[in-house]
This record gives sequence, C-alpha cells and structure tokens, in this order.
Amino acid sequence: MEFEEVIRKRRTIRRFKPTPVPLEILKKLVDYARIAPQGSNNQALEYVIITNEEMRSKMFANVRFASALQPEMRIPEEGRRPMAYIVVLLDSTIKKEGDTDCGAAVENILLGITYHGLGACWQGAIDQPAIHSLLELPEPLKVQYVISIGYPDEESQMEEFNGDFKYWKTDDGKMHVPKKSLEDVIFKII
Ligand SMILES: Cc1cc2nc3c(=O)[nH]c(=O)nc-3n(C[C@H](O)[C@H](O)[C@H](O)COP(=O)(O)O)c2cc1C
Repeated sequence: MEFEEVIRKRRTIRRFKPTPVPLEILKKLVDYARIAPQGSNNQALEYVIITNEEMRSKMFANVRFASALQPEMRIPEEGRRPMAYIVVLLDSTIKKEGDTDCGAAVENILLGITYHGLGACWQGAIDQPAIHSLLELPEPLKVQYVISIGYPDEESQMEEFNGDFKYWKTDDGKMHVPKKSLEDVIFKII
C-alpha cells in the first residue's frame, strides 16, 4: 500500500471480526511507536499488548466507544469486539506529561494498523485507575491511552465538513466522519 493510500484510508473502526490478530503484527506496531518522534527524545513511553480472551473482556469493560452516537449504537456487539489492545503507558519518573509524545506514537501505530489491513480505535475515554490495577502496573507507569484493535467489521468514510464536527452512522452501519477541506485549514500561504 502506498503512503497516500494508508494515510487516507485510516479511519477509526469500532467493530471487528472475531479473527485473532497475530502477535508478530502487534509487536511490529509497538515497534513503529518505539521509533516515533518524542519531545527531548525522552523515551518515556511503554506498552502493554493484550490478546488473552479473559483479559480482553476485562479491558472491554474499561473503555468507552463513540460518544457522539446514540447510546444504543455505541457499544460493539458480542462477537464484534476488539481482538487485541495496545495500552500506552507513560513512565512518570521520566516525564510528568506525555500527551504529545503519545500523539506521535499512537499515530504511527494507527497508520501501521491500516497498512496491515487491521482497524483500530484510539481511546482516551478509559477508566485509567481500573486499567492500571487490572494490568498490575507499578505506580510510576501511568495509563495514557488504549488502542482497540481487530480486523474491521465496519466501514467508515470521510465526509465534507458542513459546520458540525460530529460523526454519524447510517442505517447500513456505515460510519461517516466530517473533515474540513484543505482550503479551510490553510490559514495563510506566505
Ligand atoms: C485523543 C483521542 C481520544 C479518542 N478517544 C476516543 C474514545 O475514547 N472512544 C472512541 O470511540 N473514539 C475515540 N477517539 C476516536 C475519535 O472519535 C476519531 O478519531 C474521530 O471521530 C475522527 O475519526 P477518524 O479517526 O476516523 O478520522 C479518540 C481520538 C483521539 C485522537
């Protein structure tokens, strides 16, 4: 897949096929995150990879999906839930705040996910204390984000932005995500 296709094809996916995600691919995704740009090159991010079925169902209880949709449309049905998770951790002995570093690292993962034919949802609406305790993490490792992963069982397409940033779902199950036009985001060319 060419770069242009990967970057345009990447969409948030919240429903997945019940097909296992190979561990080699998940490790490759963390490897893409590992080499992402990091402020001061501090190397403060670490990752947990989860594929175990029991752990997946415990993780599922601690992540939230699609707050812009009607409640009944948000939660992926049984059999369409994430088949793997990558949890992004910040070593707080190195850095107290890691949001921009996480942004760079997670985007590398998401583009890798698209490239490998997978889908994912980057999640910030998560129960951090519950996940911290579930994963039995030491105190200095802080849970930042979760990436829910699997083979896509949902389609999502970009739409023209008409003043409302909310994404929506049509009766055919397809997601629609508005994005501003290039002209709208280039404030100035000097
Ligand atoms: C920092 C961040 C946190 C997010 N948290 C959630 C979340 O908790 N649950 C969810 O369903 N989607 C979450 N998303 C996904 C966004 O809703 C999604 O990226 C946005 O609607 C645009 O869709 P797109 O990724 O297909 O371009 C998050 C995205 C980002 C960047």
